[in-house]
Amino acid sequence: MRILVVGSGAREHTFVWKIVQSPLVEKVYCVPGNPGIAQIAECRPIPLEDNFSAIADFAETEKIDLTVVGPEDPLARGIVDVFQARGLRAFGPDQKAAILEASKDFAKRLMAENGIPTAAYRTFEDADAAIAYLEEINAPVFVKADGLAAGKGVIPGLTLDTAVKAVQEVMVDRNFGSAGDKVVIEEALFGEEASFTVLTDGVSCLPFVSSQDHKMSLDGDKGKNTGGMGAYSPAPVMTPEINEQVMNTIVRPAISGMASEGRTFKGILYVGLMITEAGPKVIEFNCRLGDPEAQVLLTRMESDLVPMLDACIGGTLDTVECKWKPEAATCVVMASGGYPDPYETGKVITGLDRADAVEGVTVFHAGTQMQNGDIATGGGRVLGVTALAPDIRSAIEGAYRGVAEIHFDQAHFRSDIGYRALDRTS
Ligand code: AMP
Ligand code: GLY
Repeated sequence: MRILVVGSGAREHTFVWKIVQSPLVEKVYCVPGNPGIAQIAECRPIPLEDNFSAIADFAETEKIDLTVVGPEDPLARGIVDVFQARGLRAFGPDQKAAILEASKDFAKRLMAENGIPTAAYRTFEDADAAIAYLEEINAPVFVKADGLAAGKGVIPGLTLDTAVKAVQEVMVDRNFGSAGDKVVIEEALFGEEASFTVLTDGVSCLPFVSSQDHKMSLDGDKGKNTGGMGAYSPAPVMTPEINEQVMNTIVRPAISGMASEGRTFKGILYVGLMITEAGPKVIEFNCRLGDPEAQVLLTRMESDLVPMLDACIGGTLDTVECKWKPEAATCVVMASGGYPDPYETGKVITGLDRADAVEGVTVFHAGTQMQNGDIATGGGRVLGVTALAPDIRSAIEGAYRGVAEIHFDQAHFRSDIGYRALDRTS
């Protein structure tokens, strides 16, 4: 098979890394890719910003059998619809289904209508009304821009002051552009977070192993919300009972709810969970694989991913199974100093080969670029240094041994990735 992966982050590097190992695959392309991906696949700098016809042309010319779309933004803008209209096979939800991530208001309504456990909420289109509501309830909340904001449009408002300020940032200062046309204000949930990922063909679902992400920029979950500073798998908080509960009370009702709205969801459904005292509740739905969850999940996947992706598109997911490696995985994200606030790029990166040579370690590229023959930083999250090892403690140690080999000016990473798993297993 000839496969095309769309995207340029560490999640897409991980997809490509996994797909090139498939005996079914003859050639892998990536659009637009990054310097790490370019070491194992052929990258083409076709922009994702416009209407996707150039990418579909490319898929036609290169006789691509299957296109895998990594990020939410092209999914939400209908890349899969464009491919389908031209008779090309593309993995991921179509635009109607991708709304599950693209609109928080939509997701909350779907959950309410299908009895899916989640935080109580209200949606506002007017800042004054939102602020009046905050004053009335005077309780800890999370303020969320309705639309896509690269994982940064969610602001904790644990006091009235911070909540009001958050509404102003989203709706008045427009820090997230049109994503802030509407704001969802939701009750703060307390507990431990976990990520639950399933593949679905719209009817059947195949759950992945559990994982946990570290969203905050600084150690001890302090600082600001980011796209994710690290992840590990398995997440011990996800017991077999909780997994079963998530499948029955969240995943199955969400998938059948989408289908009965005429929005059949095919692809990867990512459920951000809070494991509360009252059981698992949904924090968010995403319509794609998490990043950095991708790095830990796909390094633990034993089976060939390609037949699973194919079965999702073909509606035959019930005929495939997925085996997992017994080892644990940890990913530590190395970011540009300053991220998620403004940061400088163009810092030369050294030690990548030494890090890759550490036992069990694979370095996935996120925001990197070529600069006069060197690999340099080119984004906020720069690398996902990922280790596979017999247990979570040695996976954490392995990832940090990899990190220790890599240097670039103002590199920032958390030093406590996986601490909750260590707490639970010690
Ligand atoms: P989201 O982009 O919706 O996943 O939110 C980003 C992060 O904000 C989540 O991973 C949680 O850490 C936190 N968060 C969002 N909503 C809530 C909530 N209702 N209660 C507690 N934490 C939340
Ligand atoms: N790591 C969280 C996300 O991909 O949304």
